Parts: sequence; C-alpha cells; structure tokens
Amino acid sequence: MIRSIVAAFAASLIGLTPANATTRARDESLSFAIQAPATGASWYPEQWPEAQWESDLALMRRANITVVRVGEFAWARLEPGDGRFDFGWLDRAIAAAARHGIRVVIGTPTAAPPVWLSEAHPDILRVNEDGSIEGHGERRQFSFASATYRRYAVRIADELARRYGHNPAVVGWQIDNEIGVPSFDREAKARWAKWLSGRYGTIDALNRRWTTEYWSQRYERFDQIPLKSRGPQNPALLLDFRRFASALWAEYVAAQAAAIRAHADRRQFVTTNSTAWNNNFDQFLVHEVLDIAAWDDYVPNGRPDWAANALHHDLVRGYKSRNFWVMEAQPGRVDWGALNRSLEPGQVREIAWQAVGHGGDAVIYWQWRSAFNGQEQYHGTLIGPDGEPMPIYDEIARTGEEFARAAPHLAGTTVPRAEIALIYSQESRWAIENERHSRDYDPVAVLKDWYRPFAAKGYRIDVVPPGADLTGYRLVLAPNLNLIDESVAERLSTYVRGGGQLMLGPRSGMKDADNALWRQRQPGPLSALLGMQVEYYYPLDESAAITGPGGPATVLTWAEVLRPIAPDAEILARYTGGSGWLVGRPAIGARRAGRGSIIYVGAILDTNGQNGLSIWMAARAALSTPVIEPPAGVEVMERCNARTRYLILINHNDQPARIDLPTKGRAILGELRENELPAHGVGIWAISRER
Ligand code: GLA
Repeated sequence: MIRSIVAAFAASLIGLTPANATTRARDESLSFAIQAPATGASWYPEQWPEAQWESDLALMRRANITVVRVGEFAWARLEPGDGRFDFGWLDRAIAAAARHGIRVVIGTPTAAPPVWLSEAHPDILRVNEDGSIEGHGERRQFSFASATYRRYAVRIADELARRYGHNPAVVGWQIDNEIGVPSFDREAKARWAKWLSGRYGTIDALNRRWTTEYWSQRYERFDQIPLKSRGPQNPALLLDFRRFASALWAEYVAAQAAAIRAHADRRQFVTTNSTAWNNNFDQFLVHEVLDIAAWDDYVPNGRPDWAANALHHDLVRGYKSRNFWVMEAQPGRVDWGALNRSLEPGQVREIAWQAVGHGGDAVIYWQWRSAFNGQEQYHGTLIGPDGEPMPIYDEIARTGEEFARAAPHLAGTTVPRAEIALIYSQESRWAIENERHSRDYDPVAVLKDWYRPFAAKGYRIDVVPPGADLTGYRLVLAPNLNLIDESVAERLSTYVRGGGQLMLGPRSGMKDADNALWRQRQPGPLSALLGMQVEYYYPLDESAAITGPGGPATVLTWAEVLRPIAPDAEILARYTGGSGWLVGRPAIGARRAGRGSIIYVGAILDTNGQNGLSIWMAARAALSTPVIEPPAGVEVMERCNARTRYLILINHNDQPARIDLPTKGRAILGELRENELPAHGVGIWAISRER
C-alpha cells in the first residue's frame, strides 16, 4: 500500500531527469522535482514523540504545505556514537510525510555536531578571534578548517545520501545551515599560510603587493602572517582574509556536495541556505558547486522594506542565474531581533508572493512548531505548543492554496532577463567596510538607493558579479565598485564601446585586486575611458547640493570632485552648495566611447535626487518602457515561459491602488478587480505571447 502511494507520488513529480552525477551542477536546463511555487515548513520530527507526527502532517496538508525540511540539526540522533547510525526514525518520518503527499528536503546536520565528537576531538571546536573557544549546546561550534570535522561531516552526508539518494519523496539537499562564521584555530592559521603561499608564490611578492614596508610589516615566511578579520591591519591582509574564508567555505560545501552527489538521483538538488547580505564569504564562489540558491528571508523588526527585499531576491537569483528557494521565512515574527515585532495580517502572504515574483520556486516557513525547550521558544510558528494552529496558520494555508492554483501556470516559468544589470562586488564591499572613512557610508545602503528608483518604476534588474558577461544589458549600474582589476576594467570598457551605458558611483575604481591604490586616480583603469578623474573626495557631516541632469539634488554622506582630462568629457552636474572645496566643481561626468557611454556619479544623492538621476538615465539608456507603470508602493514582477508572460503585482500600501493594466491579458489569480488592487493585495495578470 505504502509502496504504491509512494510510486504514484513519485510519478506525479515533474521534471524527472536521468541520473548523471558528473554534469548535473552545470546543467542549467535541470528542473527539479517540485511543483512550483510550493509552500513548506521546517519540521523537526526528532523533537517530538512519533505519535504526534500524523496529526502534525495532517495539519500541514490542510495548510497546503507540500514540502518539509528535516534533519538539519539532528546529528546526535542520526549518529548517536562514532560510526553508529540510526536512520530508522528518519525513514519513518520521510515515509509519513510521503503518505501525506509531502516532499522532503534533507538538511545535512553539520551545523550541530554531537557532544561525543567534540569530546573525542576537541580540536574541531571553533576558536573566536579573541581566542575563546566555542562549546557544546549552541550550534556552528566547529572550525571550518578542521580536517577532522570535514571527515565526519562528509561521512554523515555520505551515509544520508546512500540511504535517501533514491528516495522518491526526497527532492533535494541542504548542506549545513547558514554557514559563515570563521574560526581562528591553529589549523585555520596553517591553512591561511598555505593559502597565502598559493596566492603569492613567494614572500617577496606578498611583501611587494601588500606594501609591507609600511610600519615594518615585512614578513619573512607565510606562517608569520597574522590571521585577522578586523583592523587595524593592512587592507590587503583584511581582503585576503575574506578570500581565504570564502575558499574554505567553498571547499567545505563542495566536499559535502560531492558526497551527496555520489549517491543521489540527479533530480535531487543540492543547495545551502544563505542569509541576507552575509559578508563572511563570497556567495557567488560558494554557489559554483550548488544546483540552486536558497536564502532565509527574515524581517526581524516586522517592518518590511519591499524594495530592499526585492533587491536581495534578485541578488540570490543572480548566484546561479536561475530560480531559487526561500528556505526560511517567518510565520509572523522571529526571536532574534532587537524588538521582534510581528508582521501585519496579510504581509506574510505578500512576502511569499514577492519571493515568487522574483524567481522563488518555494517558500518554507521556519518553523512548523516550536520545541518545548531549546533556544527559540519565542519564535513564530504555524502550530502552538498545544498542537493547534496559531493565528498565522490560515494566512499561510490561503497562500499555499493560491500557490497550488498558480502552479499550473507558473511551474517552469523564469524571470526574464532584465535590461538593467546592477553589479554587486563582494570584494568592493569588503574593501569599503574595512575602511568606511565615514561611519555613515554603508555600501549596501548605496546599492539599495540605486536599486529603488528603478524598481519603483517597474523596471526589472539582474544583480551580477563584476566578472559577469554584460552583453545585452542596456544599462549597467555599479554604485561603489571600489576594486576594479585589469580584467574587470577591460570587460567594462568592451561593454561601453559596444554600445552599453555604464553608470559608476562614488568610490569606484580606487583600488586594484590587492586592495592597493591605483596609480591613476579614480576610477583608476577606467579614468582614460571616462576622460575624467576624481580630484578630491571626502565624507560629509552636512549636506551639499548639485544641479544636474535629474534636476537639483541634495548631496549626503559623500562628495567627490571630478576633473576633466579629455577635451570631450562632459560635465553633467556641478556642486551648487557645500564647502569651498566643492562649489562650482564637477560632481557628475560622462563621456561617449565607441557606441556607448560611461557616466561617473561622484556623490551620494538624496532620494529625490537619485530618482531624478535614474529617470534621466533610463531615457539615456533607451530602456523599454515597463509594461505597467506602477503607482507608488506597487511592485510589478514578471515570470514567463514561451507562451505567456505573468505579471505579478503586489500593492504594498495601506490603501487601494489604481493600476493601468495592459489592454491585452487577463487576471488569473488574486484581488485585481477593474484596475484596482486593494491594500496589501496580490494579483497575477497573464498576457499571451502567441499571436
Ligand atoms: C536561522 C536558522 C534557523 C532558525 C531561524 C530563526 O535562520 O537557519 O535554524 O534559527 O534562524 O529565525
């Protein structure tokens, strides 16, 4: 009986493809066995008596939950002693979920090692930068550099994959949980020396590239170099520390991914769940070995900033240039913020649909129900300690029901390529964060400021790393591209000469790949193309003003003075107010080069100024007019396939909004009625592409 249900369930899965372990990570056409969009929950069956499981799963089904994530912190239960495995309970939990038609993502449990492991091998424990050692009972108390830990982690991943790699209910794997915290133990220090030696070859090369004549920093051997994540330290060392940490995390994830892939069906994806704006490592690098990206989308203060959240979705979609999962979302509230306000009624649904609109194929709530004890008793859940639904349950159930109705339309759709690319350079962010020069200069806030005006006008944006292929984008935004090495400079120049519009922001092109100052002033290797240089810069503690192509604007936080060095450089804006260093001097400049142009914005503008500049830039780049021009606070997203464009609209306002819908098309879901979307309403408008 169970077998036939499982077989029927397996047959109902979409996108089954034959196994081919070697090429799977590179196969972009791979579509995973899930009816997207799907609703899910993090379920920890090990925390409950088995007698409870059936009623939990029945309640999940009632809430239209079709996927659960299990296992991610259950190492002590899965391997109660060294090499002694107990998978019986997980077999039964997965089978029980399958009986309810619920698919399963298995998390490798390596974020929470069992006590016997750290007792037998205390050197696996994470050492903090201050020398203190993490102990049992928290999580992530392991060192990312420990070969012993790696061996045990790979073994449990391998055992799990052997057992569940062909299980039809299992659709994917999550490696570890929110990786990122580095360790400063002896093994890490030794790996650091080795990594530096691999990067620089000789200590002389390192000394030269780091300018270690400064403060007698000169090193004689790689093992003398301190392992430090924070200053005061040489900027080259601090940037290399992040690169080193990225390499170690990439290796850590790759080792588990390889162990899983050796046994798992190709239809099972391998991912990890990342956190918002995590700057511990380079996400693009770590994602190279993963099939899809997934992130944990939380609003700790309960006050969503829709454009900022949209930007992060676009960033995560960019990790693999494909649809992604939201592996964790809050059922109302979290418990780890400074003040854990609950989202308002309707906003959990809004956030779920926003994820889908940006390319999310699943939204998994954390968590299904809270354990009686353990650190997270105050967190939002779908079910209370009594096993009965919490108030948010109905909203999630409704969203799940809508997802199920939308799935026949949206399954297999993707977000079409945008005309605008926003460059996210993790290395530039590190470089600026290590030397902010002003407590008010936040490189992520600058990215958001540049993203917002375009999103507000209904333009889609792809977020790409600096090395991305930019062919086809009409406009490339690079708000604080602090580090520009020769290859990136070459790529950007080729893009401009070929007809692209490149808009650089403050602090761009200041440093090379070693985080050393370029000999040419900003934008360094692009200053010849721009025909201008940054003459002078400094942070502001009072506002200045400019008049430019987008109208008058207030300058906040940061100002740079440009100087033309080529006769055909255009001055687009001058400072009209502020200190004597600024007034009358150029703030924004541009130059046509080949068939395109490069624009340099040397100031941080207020919201109005940034809006004006963006509208002007959209016209200069000849961007196609968005299919819907949204009123303020209404977000327009798109997913499509060869036949249909699906416009997903969300009214983030507290009042209804009137929307000029295209004459073609029809509403297929949600509350769109006669060009009106109620407060916090969602609607999908489908436009056939067939003639
Ligand atoms: C993180 C973790 C989860 C849980 C949630 C709570 O994202 O991945 O295990 O602790 O936070 O919000």
